[in-house]
Amino acid sequence: MKLGLFGFGCVGQGLWKVLHETRGIRADIKRICIKHPEKQRPVPAHFFTTDPAEILNDPEIDVVVELIDDAEAAFEIVSAALSGGKAVVSANKKMIAHRLPELYALQQKTGAPFLYEGACCASIPIIRNLEEYYDNDLLTSVEGIFNGTTNFILTRIFEEHLSFGEALRLAQAGGFAESDPTLDVEGYDPKFKLCILLLHAFGVFVQPEKVLHSGISRLNDFDIEFARSRGSVLKLVARCFRDNDKVAAYCLPRFVPAGHRYAGVKNEYNAVTLESAFSERQWFVGKGAGDKPTGCAVLSDVSALRYLYKYEYRKFSQNGTFFDPAGAELTVYVRYEREGQVAESDFEEISERYASGRARYWIGRISLEKLQAASWLREEGVNVIEC
Ligand SMILES: NC(=O)c1ccc[n+]([C@@H]2O[C@H](COP(=O)([O-])OP(=O)(O)OC[C@H]3O[C@@H](n4cnc5c(N)ncnc54)[C@H](OP(=O)(O)O)[C@@H]3O)[C@@H](O)[C@H]2O)c1
Repeated sequence: MKLGLFGFGCVGQGLWKVLHETRGIRADIKRICIKHPEKQRPVPAHFFTTDPAEILNDPEIDVVVELIDDAEAAFEIVSAALSGGKAVVSANKKMIAHRLPELYALQQKTGAPFLYEGACCASIPIIRNLEEYYDNDLLTSVEGIFNGTTNFILTRIFEEHLSFGEALRLAQAGGFAESDPTLDVEGYDPKFKLCILLLHAFGVFVQPEKVLHSGISRLNDFDIEFARSRGSVLKLVARCFRDNDKVAAYCLPRFVPAGHRYAGVKNEYNAVTLESAFSERQWFVGKGAGDKPTGCAVLSDVSALRYLYKYEYRKFSQNGTFFDPAGAELTVYVRYEREGQVAESDFEEISERYASGRARYWIGRISLEKLQAASWLREEGVNVIEC
């Protein structure tokens, strides 16, 4: 196989390394398209171009590997490559989550395969498992820790008593967080992965805007002390679940008791838990970020193309399932600043109330629909954590 690679940053270089350290796969990178030609590169200059056409129009290149950090440009590249009949591998969760319906239609039209295991929890082989192994078993939920950056920050906060800002700076210095960490710390990134898994687990196309999310940037010292006082740590958990033919999803921080399996998932590690009718609970743990772990998932997709593997999206063609959060209920801790800031009438039941000069909180049951629609959720001084 001849590969045309777009992007030579963290993951692109990770792919280069794992490809050169792996025996048994006959794939060569022929050309690499990057954005800034002036940058110093660790491989010879003749590989590089800034002209996408040198890859997209090269008949010798059969596989396009898209590993850039620009979702709009990535969609242009991927759709042009698929339209040209080339197989494509990508790890761009933001682009894939937003453009899945078009990318699915393009695959049906052109017959060209599009694989993206590296986009969901990097080294954990979850998409292919959902496609192949969980083809018949009745899945009831898929959830987990889908973001390595926030898990690194939360681990440092709870293990080393660092502040949010200190832990974020450490994550950036260690290469686990980008200089603009918004997509991670605000919870968008795990939500993008959840939207991709919703299609492979339950056969539903869900736009990210339809899914409730909150990240960890609203955490304050009071929330952290509260978690400690209850013998818990905090994890950012994305979850989707099925109730008959309805599927719901959300991504929220969650209190996790010290003995819970997620409490041992630390730093850049991710975890995915599947619940199903017959095999019951199973879970996968592995590195959710980094050059080689992600490069390895990309290489596994490239390797699968040798035996003409493609996603069949069988759940989509089999299911009468639809996305509808109505009826789903959560128990949450909601910390707020001012009396009257949070609407009590939104809650089904409030089981605990607290107010002091420092903070106020309630613990109560609320429908997912009401929580998603609540204007107070996005107000300054409010934080919601699942119990
Ligand atoms: N990092 C991870 O651990 C990880 C894990 C899973 C998935 N991903 C996903 O993998 C993708 C790549 O991430 P990364 O961390 O490797 O990013 P990165 O280190 O920031 O590298 C991005 C690369 O894309 C190139 N680029 C940007 N726009 C381009 C364009 N229009 N045409 C050609 N090249 C372009 C850049 O070129 P220059 O070198 O010239 O600037 C750079 O080489 C992203 O979608 C990310 O979400 C990353």
